[in-house]
Amino acid sequence: MTPVVYPGSFDPVTRGHVDVVRRAASVFGRVIVAVASNVRKSATFSVDERVEMLKDALEGIPGVEVDAFEGLLVDYLDHTDAKVVIRGVRAVSDYEFEFQMAHMNRQLRPGIETVFLVAGPEEFFISSSAVKEVACFGGDVSTFVPACVEARLRARMTNPT
Ligand code: PNS
Repeated sequence: MTPVVYPGSFDPVTRGHVDVVRRAASVFGRVIVAVASNVRKSATFSVDERVEMLKDALEGIPGVEVDAFEGLLVDYLDHTDAKVVIRGVRAVSDYEFEFQMAHMNRQLRPGIETVFLVAGPEEFFISSSAVKEVACFGGDVSTFVPACVEARLRARMTNPT
């Protein structure tokens, strides 16, 4: 079965991401969740840590694999044979970046399609950066991130390396 690819920073994975993976897997059957290692953001967690947390968080969802990539997403898609990119959208403000990225990828590789899954009412306000800020000030993030991420996040935020 040809996979679809759900790329992102996942720094760290949130319950919003998990919801997108679950729904993508039920529609497309096979999903590769791909951690980008060279995004122009300074990451809180290493790529290996992000992959590890994703594997924990997504355990038991059939048809899901976790991987990491460097460089252009379209080059990674070539390796996987995937033609469809999955992205979650939460608010209209996400759309500008997503629209640009979808078109850029299609210019770079005609035939690539981006499919957007709209965040659910319980997840639309969750972002990795907001979650990190809440954790940084000692707030409870247990409803925003998978249990396996919570402890790591708290440790990292109170003792950054
Ligand atoms: O979770 P994010 O940070 O919104 O994910 C963005 C990501 C990693 C999907 C995007 O930055 C990406 O695809 N980076 C790889 C480099 C690339 O292909 N850039 C061209 C598309 S603009």
